[in-house]
Amino acid sequence: MAKDKLVVGNWKMYVGTVEEAKRIVLKIRRTALQLEHTETVVCPPYVLIPFCVSRKGNKTVLIGSQTVSFEKEGSHTGEVGASMLRDVGVTYVLAGHSEERSAGDTDQIVSKRILAVLDAGLKPIVCVGENERDPGGSYLEVLKNQIKNSLHGIPKEQARNIVIAYEPIWAIGAKGAMEPTNIHETMLFVKKTFSDLFGHGPAMKVKVLYGGAVNHRNALDIITIGKADGLLVGRESVNMAGFP
Ligand code: PGA
Repeated sequence: MAKDKLVVGNWKMYVGTVEEAKRIVLKIRRTALQLEHTETVVCPPYVLIPFCVSRKGNKTVLIGSQTVSFEKEGSHTGEVGASMLRDVGVTYVLAGHSEERSAGDTDQIVSKRILAVLDAGLKPIVCVGENERDPGGSYLEVLKNQIKNSLHGIPKEQARNIVIAYEPIWAIGAKGAMEPTNIHETMLFVKKTFSDLFGHGPAMKVKVLYGGAVNHRNALDIITIGKADGLLVGRESVNMAGFP
């Protein structure tokens, strides 16, 4: 059965122990088993990844990393490379999350991370989003530039391995998510920009997720009215009752 929706949990630093990580993954695996059309991914911090990968090769919940080095190997203290992530069972990698961008990731660095992820045969989830929505609509230009610059230099044949996560920064960690009708409009805008870069065919297939204050109350509207291809969930993803 084709999985046409993608739900990703970004654990950030919310989960602090191996025991807690194992407990949450087990619970998510049980819920995800019932989701025929949805691929479920969790992104633990680096050190917890090996404890979240199923030892029996169960792929009900796939594992993502929250970031990656753009270097392949060598003298890079504290860094973790994409092939190392692949080796421990990672499938997806977040690139350009706004919290990484505010810590110094430019579009250029994000594009290097994306290339490293694709080179290792993994799938990048490229995070983009404006700081604020001005009434004049210049946030669309901001968004377009972020997408184009972050995906600069990515070969066309890799387009099918890319996922985009649209996360308006003002909604991340906020009480309420963006209005679903506005989400729909933005989803179309992101796909149009993707089409300018890679063509119509890949743009019809690319998954564009919505992230920013998603919870179990607003998730369905974001998918049905907002027409998002999936969700990137932060805080609520470690809430035992709320995810996926
Ligand atoms: P949030 O975070 O769901 O807690 O708003 C989303 C994210 O930062 O990816």
